[in-house]
Amino acid sequence: MGVEVFPDAVWAERVASRLGDKINTGNRLCLATGSTPSPIYHRVAETVSLDGMAVFLLDEFGGLEVGDPGRCASMLTRDLIEASRGSPVVHVPDVDAEDPWAAASRYGKLIGAGGIDLAIVGLGANGHVGMNEPGTSIDQRTRVVDLHPATSNAALAYGAAVAPTWGITVGMAELMEATEIWVLVAGGHKTGILNRALHGPVDPEVPASFLTEHDNCVFLVDESAHLTGA
Ligand code: PGA
Repeated sequence: MGVEVFPDAVWAERVASRLGDKINTGNRLCLATGSTPSPIYHRVAETVSLDGMAVFLLDEFGGLEVGDPGRCASMLTRDLIEASRGSPVVHVPDVDAEDPWAAASRYGKLIGAGGIDLAIVGLGANGHVGMNEPGTSIDQRTRVVDLHPATSNAALAYGAAVAPTWGITVGMAELMEATEIWVLVAGGHKTGILNRALHGPVDPEVPASFLTEHDNCVFLVDESAHLTGA
């Protein structure tokens, strides 16, 4: 596990450039959405062709209308796909299915069948990864989950019409099986939880701490998040 720290002003640009270098036809990426990766995806969309790539959305809120701006698929489209040169094949968990549990299981199998070359995840203010909320174990696979209130509120901040109470997330198990993981962390409001993830015990209450046990995981952090010795 590694940690790289960048000045705030160049963090997004550096991470985007690193992602641009990484992208190759045939790659299978698992991508988080939200405020942290948004500026990175915009930069990548402008500069790199995503033709031939497979993109798996990391998680999705249930109970929101198709096209709701707070849906993770809407954010991925807005931030990356719409503006991108070339068309990747995009896979999303089917939260609109009659049986979301079966849909989650199918999605996990699709990911497991070919694996993930690079997973890009964020760090939730409560320590979650995707929608693997506090209390998750490292071997839990892709599934339907109940959301922590902080995660429901985050959806409202992303523009959701109502606060979702559940979602489908790629599990910690599939993430730990990825060849490589990047954890994106930006902003002073993440300092405390970053510190716990990196320097606290590996703890189901901080699911991001599991990632420190992955052989090829790097936390890409801006100086604001890293301040005060995290
Ligand atoms: P954020 O969310 O990028 O909007 O801070 C991070 C997360 O919940 O994973």
